[in-house]
Amino acid sequence: MCGIVGCILKDKEAAPVLLECVGKLEYRGYDSVGIATSASEIRIQKDQGKIDAFTENLDMKELPGKLGIAHVRWATHGLPTKINAHPHTDCQKRIAVVHNGIIENFKELRTELINSGHKFSSDTDTEIIPHLIEKYMDEGLDLEEAVRSAVRDIRGSYALAIMCRDEPGKIIGVRKESPLIVGKGEDEYFLASDVPAVLNHTNQVIYLDNREMVILDGEEIIIKDLDGKILTKEVHTIEWTPDMAEKQGYEHFMIKEIHEQPDAVKNTLREEEDIRNMVRDFPEFKKICFVACGTSYHASLVGKYLFETLVGLPTDIILASEFEYSGGALDKDTLVILITQSGETADTLKALRIANEKAETLAIVNVLGSTATRDAKHVIYTRAGPEIGVAATKTYVSQLTAIYLLAILMGGKEELLETLQKIPDFMEEALKTEEEIKVIAKKYKDTYDFFFIGRGFSYPTALEGALKLKEITYIHGEGYAAGELKHGPLALIDDDVPVVAVTPPGHSHNKTLSNLEEVKARGARVIALGSKEDHVLKSEAEDFIGFPSEINEMFSPLPYVIPMQLLAYYISIYRNIDPDKPKNLAKCVTVE
Ligand code: F6R
Repeated sequence: MCGIVGCILKDKEAAPVLLECVGKLEYRGYDSVGIATSASEIRIQKDQGKIDAFTENLDMKELPGKLGIAHVRWATHGLPTKINAHPHTDCQKRIAVVHNGIIENFKELRTELINSGHKFSSDTDTEIIPHLIEKYMDEGLDLEEAVRSAVRDIRGSYALAIMCRDEPGKIIGVRKESPLIVGKGEDEYFLASDVPAVLNHTNQVIYLDNREMVILDGEEIIIKDLDGKILTKEVHTIEWTPDMAEKQGYEHFMIKEIHEQPDAVKNTLREEEDIRNMVRDFPEFKKICFVACGTSYHASLVGKYLFETLVGLPTDIILASEFEYSGGALDKDTLVILITQSGETADTLKALRIANEKAETLAIVNVLGSTATRDAKHVIYTRAGPEIGVAATKTYVSQLTAIYLLAILMGGKEELLETLQKIPDFMEEALKTEEEIKVIAKKYKDTYDFFFIGRGFSYPTALEGALKLKEITYIHGEGYAAGELKHGPLALIDDDVPVVAVTPPGHSHNKTLSNLEEVKARGARVIALGSKEDHVLKSEAEDFIGFPSEINEMFSPLPYVIPMQLLAYYISIYRNIDPDKPKNLAKCVTVE
């Protein structure tokens, strides 16, 4: 999981532009960074660590040329060191390659190449690619043919940008199962893993599909399949402005994105008509199966409760990484709903491929043109805009909104649309708890363990609160169905363990309140989330976050998640952690 870019510029030096573009992809990985540019020869600079530190030590004069490629890495094969940083080259350093993906058969290929005299200098799977291209060029093929031959030898996933000293002025891109887009500016050409990388230069974008190759030569964009047949592709105009991908005055992308949530939900609500049209053409399904990972899985769990309540269909929910082992009971009467903000999560894409063979598939996706949107039979776009913070926030509430719309329309419960339309206002109210949350965050910042509990529609919110805490504060957070505590984890509760209780008014309220009594009896300090008018709950809690009393249990996942996100965010700030770039994690998980 990495970010790649390439550019051919008309009258500017490539290196500063490449740095700027690849900086927009740091959410894809920040273990190392590297650039290659080409003037009379290929020059490479790379190092471990983040772009800012790399840029500080970089002498741009070392990277002359109007053409180049760049990379940010999230390590999969080989430690995150300078030697393993991309670009990688062949023996003669005439070919430079940046890669996002995994080459599954790299060990065999590496052994073969070493046996025929190739010298390797890194531990990466990627390095076999320039050597394979070198091998084919030595046999007399030109760069384009050599790239085609090389990728035929490769098993696995790749988005590649390649340049070669012998064919200066040219960059070749090729992809399979890792995203790659082409940007077309004014006599300037770009390649990138994702759209935000090029938005400062162009909003004209072509999405490459699997097994497609692009040849950029500074004059035109030629797209071919892997048999060399020329393809005609649509050029999309991207409506996201470069500003939308920037922090807009907030300290971090995450807090900016938390504040964008009411608008994100409003944007998703605009999809109502498209969803209605889609639902109208649906056959009669007998079963629903949600598939997703991480935060998107928590959105799916809300989906399960909603579909069973509103649509009355049996609803499974399966972690995408478990789908190939347990997702067998599907047939043409099943609708498999895959939730993925990026549309590129490898586990989810694999599940999608399996599900496509047996059932009807629907992907709920934020990233336009991503692989899931092309592979699924039906698509709902959540339209939350670009999410750069590694921790999902606004894409989560947009996913939830899409699921509410779908369940309401499939279940014929149109009367609930009115309540759904009010949710952005309730979310604005929830954002006003920020100052209270800061106080609570400061109080608990040095805690080792947290519990998050809830029942019914509040159980996914508890899971999501715990996940947010873990990923950006490195504090252990355990999300639990409140009724399950007594079956084991109650043994862990004492006065060092704060318990966050999600307790909106509704069916589960009184029982969660009893569970709260149980944890309090073991010394736990309770942070409760509930209706402002819930005086009993308030009196039970050491800290209390109040919501408008009209927010009932069914719709509570949307506003109630906000204080959870804020709590994780501010604890992370008080612990001096960068919440946008938590360690060991990346925004888009393109490995299984
Ligand atoms: C957590 C988070 C991850 C993602 C998961 C799935 O904040 O962002 O748990 O939800 O990696 O990603 P998508 O939705 O892109 O498939």
